[in-house]
Amino acid sequence: MITVDNKTIHLQGRDMSYIVTVGEHGDLLHYHFGRKLGIREFHVPVTWNIWSAYAPEGYTLENVPQEYPSYGYTDLKPGAYSFINSDGNGIAQMKFRSLRIEKGAASVEGMPCLRGAGEESGAETLYISLEDTKAGIMAELAYTVFDRYNVVARSAVIRNISEKPIRLTSVYSSCLELDRKERDLVYFPGSWANERQMERCAVKRGLRIDIANERGGSGHNMNPFVMAAEKDANEKSGEVYSLSLVYSGNHSTLVNCASDGSLRILQGINPCGFEWILEPGESFAAPQSILCYSDKGFGGVSRELSRLYRENLCPSSKSFAERPILINNWEATYFDFDEDKLVEIARKAGEAGIELFVMDDGWFGERNDDRRGLGDWTVNKNKLPSGLKGLSERINREGLKFGLWIEPEMVNPDSELYRAHPDWAVHVPGRTPAESRQQLILDITRDEVREYIIKAIKDVLTAGNIEYVKWDMNRPMSDMPYPGYNHRYTLGLYKIAEDLTASFPNILFEGCAGGGGRFDAGMLYYFPQIWTSDNSDAVARLKIQYGTSMGYPISAVSAHVTASPNHQNGRVTSLKTRAAVAFAGVFGYELDITKMDEREFEEIKEQVKFAKKLRPLVLNGDLYRLQSPFESNYCSWEIVSPDADEIFFMSCRILSETGMTDPMIRLDGLDENAVYIDELSGERYHGDELANRGYLPKYEQKDFSSVVMYLKRVIDDKSERSL
Ligand code: GLA
Repeated sequence: MITVDNKTIHLQGRDMSYIVTVGEHGDLLHYHFGRKLGIREFHVPVTWNIWSAYAPEGYTLENVPQEYPSYGYTDLKPGAYSFINSDGNGIAQMKFRSLRIEKGAASVEGMPCLRGAGEESGAETLYISLEDTKAGIMAELAYTVFDRYNVVARSAVIRNISEKPIRLTSVYSSCLELDRKERDLVYFPGSWANERQMERCAVKRGLRIDIANERGGSGHNMNPFVMAAEKDANEKSGEVYSLSLVYSGNHSTLVNCASDGSLRILQGINPCGFEWILEPGESFAAPQSILCYSDKGFGGVSRELSRLYRENLCPSSKSFAERPILINNWEATYFDFDEDKLVEIARKAGEAGIELFVMDDGWFGERNDDRRGLGDWTVNKNKLPSGLKGLSERINREGLKFGLWIEPEMVNPDSELYRAHPDWAVHVPGRTPAESRQQLILDITRDEVREYIIKAIKDVLTAGNIEYVKWDMNRPMSDMPYPGYNHRYTLGLYKIAEDLTASFPNILFEGCAGGGGRFDAGMLYYFPQIWTSDNSDAVARLKIQYGTSMGYPISAVSAHVTASPNHQNGRVTSLKTRAAVAFAGVFGYELDITKMDEREFEEIKEQVKFAKKLRPLVLNGDLYRLQSPFESNYCSWEIVSPDADEIFFMSCRILSETGMTDPMIRLDGLDENAVYIDELSGERYHGDELANRGYLPKYEQKDFSSVVMYLKRVIDDKSERSL
């Protein structure tokens, strides 16, 4: 709900308020973001400082919390945007001009954003126009709130209202001003095969921290999801603010802790390598930034964002539909396969109850290794004599759906496509572009390149019965030919993703970028699930999945059981633990199932049966993290159904210890008055005891031991007997 009371604009979510006021001199000020307040008028106090006495308006903006601050006039902190106008300066102080409120969620031009059209969405959007006629610049800020969430989705459009060009050098999407308090930042850096490692640091006076990535996609190195938490906040309690950028290119969350201890957090496109020329009348749209507030700790933020993304971001037909349990041939065969080998894997997988076979890299052009063939999207008949049609029919006859891997944004210099169009690869004229994995990036800012890709991929997707696509992107972006290129590239990517996903609404698309290099809310708009990391080792996955779950739903976390010793780090783990970890995600396999012995195969059959039962929980349940692998020798989590009738519990003790007892684990989110039965062991538990005394898992005496429970509420004696 959004109300306007004189100069107070009050946005209310489920149990949160976000309050904006228009100051005495027309400045757009920030009053409150936190627990819900009543509807009335509020005034932002203007604090005096040594400088303000001499300021033209009798106060300086630097000491007043603002919504979209400008740098350089009476505010000398980092601004939400910067530009150089035709007079050669970048000074502005944008003042309130008008506002309007509309039903439904805001849309962002050319970019993904939260869904929610019309009144029934429970969403409302506030649009506020600000302008500085002297500088010749205006901004339209959009704020969407939903009745059922504690989030505010912000975006900004900057317009040139002068008669000469303006050069934009930064445009942030949101600004969050927080008062002086001891706070920590929680952020998610990483690297290839080691994504979204959770870090926490105190923000101290005078620090400026840029939580950013400028490597092309949203990146393995730093995720565009950041939390600012009060010092004592933990999984269950404490005030936490989060910022998530709905964007898949270079990003920045700039945290400025002023010398007075107050925080200004700006989130948006990374200004590094960015510039945008606005001709008179032209405008620039910045991506959406979602601000979330919780007084229930990190867990509160995660559950809020999970529901929001499942219901209002991911493609609606797919986010709630049960995802097929898949087997992918990458770690089973790499490039060394033919049609019969794939069908053999599919046949055995079918016997185990697996529902989808995914043919990974190596099926097209001369792609017999990773040196050649990218861009040539015609089937390799030496490997697949029956083509995509014949192969998909054979797989379907085994009772499985068929899907395949593509990497549409890339080209190998050794390919037919590159030989025909060397100029289509991103490069700086006169310089040899840097290769990564022997590949170059296609210049998808160009219409003809996008058209080629869309046509080539449409031809692939109509060549057989294809029901799933894994969309990969395997290198960072270098050699960008001009400033602002990364943003134009990202807009080009969204055009292709929009066209292909809209043209094939029945295909389930899974995102991938060398594993989890583009795990962001922008991609989730098109792809409801993303290959979380190329590291498939169960123990490494504990941290990767734990970190990912902070800002994203587990229904987006693609997780596969692979071979042991693990191909990425050589670790030996049991089949049981590999599955236990993968169960808290979109479950699948990526190993040569034809080589499993009888005992392992029987175990896989049981796992598949269990994963099917678990599916609704993974799609709709709430995740509670119980023990952190970043802080302890344990990792535990639970998925609880909305009615608390069913609970999946997993705990892994990483290293076995002697002479130490294991800690009890208190479960969360359950009904304390209920009795639960663990369907796997037949043991009964009282909810109050699990919640208030705890549960002690019976780990095996070895490293990487895991315990899984599937608790079901016992309704009454009768149903208890029937269990
Ligand atoms: C990337 C993906 C892998 C696999 C390979 C194929 O690394 O993350 O899962 O598809 O590419 O080349």
